[in-house]
Amino acid sequence: MLAVDPSAANAAKLLQPLQIGSVSIPNRLILAPMAGVTDQPFRLLCRQLGAGLTISEMVSSNPALRNTRKSRERTNHQGEPGPIAVQIAGSDPQQMAEAARHNADRGAELIDINLGCPAKKVCKAAAGSALLRDESLVGRILEAAVRSVDVPVTLKTRTGWSPETRNLANIARIAEASGIQLLTVHGRTRACGYQGEAEVESLAGIREQCALPLVANGDIDSATKAIEVLNRTGADAIMLGRAAMGRPWIFGSMATTLRGLATTHPASGQCPAMISEVPRLPSMAWIGAILMEHLDRLYRFYGERRGVLIARKHIGWTLRGLGGGSGSSTDGEHLRQRLMATTTAASQLDLLRKHFADRISPEALARSADSTDGFSDFASLAPDMHWNGHQRVNR
Ligand SMILES: Cc1cc2nc3c(=O)[nH]c(=O)nc-3n(C[C@H](O)[C@H](O)[C@H](O)COP(=O)(O)O)c2cc1C
Repeated sequence: MLAVDPSAANAAKLLQPLQIGSVSIPNRLILAPMAGVTDQPFRLLCRQLGAGLTISEMVSSNPALRNTRKSRERTNHQGEPGPIAVQIAGSDPQQMAEAARHNADRGAELIDINLGCPAKKVCKAAAGSALLRDESLVGRILEAAVRSVDVPVTLKTRTGWSPETRNLANIARIAEASGIQLLTVHGRTRACGYQGEAEVESLAGIREQCALPLVANGDIDSATKAIEVLNRTGADAIMLGRAAMGRPWIFGSMATTLRGLATTHPASGQCPAMISEVPRLPSMAWIGAILMEHLDRLYRFYGERRGVLIARKHIGWTLRGLGGGSGSSTDGEHLRQRLMATTTAASQLDLLRKHFADRISPEALARSADSTDGFSDFASLAPDMHWNGHQRVNR
């Protein structure tokens, strides 16, 4: 009998659907919730470009904050394919239960509880990772939230408050006993912030002890890294955050690589087709088109004035990922300064169109225009796109 290659098996596994209670997600590449990043336009783009699940930015469970513009925008899921997942944070069991119910009543199909956020503002209010120091309170919060809704409730946590007080094993036990349906672990303690490498041993230990679907998170930025983490932890899925900033296509690119790596495994034939086939290494033309589609959606979602401001950071991340616009070169610095000064969608798009056009050969431009590589909505190259203040028109 042929020995099964664990890497091929895990590549195939990442492309399989995952069942979370009553909800199924099409693959196991998950976008991390990131406040100020994973808004509706970005989530939708990531889903269309291959992510199996996206989760809203964290919303407070405090009912007084429910009707703020921030909360309303964070819980706007218009046009998103299901399952809709909303992350809530807070430290009062009653409020967390009400927040879970409030969001489920408004269409959330998954409720994620945040025990992992190290933000000072959140920790001071004894929510996020500060809760890790009070296991009995964690139990009461999880039980109350699970009891209050019919949809699956999931938990996202770090490995503990500090290296000296790692209590992931206890938190996982409490989660399982409370009826949580999936556990995501960012492999660092709160005190570690983002320093050092994400721990894999803690996750491997949890896999042994806990029957919940386990999602590994922390420092994953490629298909190879995802497979390595699965090989070492036995996790069921991976979540990535920072690696997706400015790169919403990373999920599809990873899936394309994984499909190649999975071919030697018998389960590969069962991998469901992706919504789109994303190139493993997208061309500049392709990236330019995606970026401009993203900006277009930001203008629509936030209105032109705020959309242009919010777009700046996404543009910065994309350009930095391409090795430009980071201020490291005169060219990049010049572009960055001009982008920071733009206040209209037309001028922002125009600058980028020129930036990308300068870097795309006429042959590549022609190829991309005909290409069926990308998601069908992006088939017409964004450099031909013109923002007229209300709607996109193709010139
Ligand atoms: C800008 C930013 C905002 C974040 N906001 C949240 C959040 O709202 N909720 C949460 O659970 N984690 C949040 N995180 C943590 C990420 O979800 C993730 O756990 C962490 O970045 C590690 O994954 P990575 O190495 O793939 O980035 C945030 C991280 C970043 C960088």
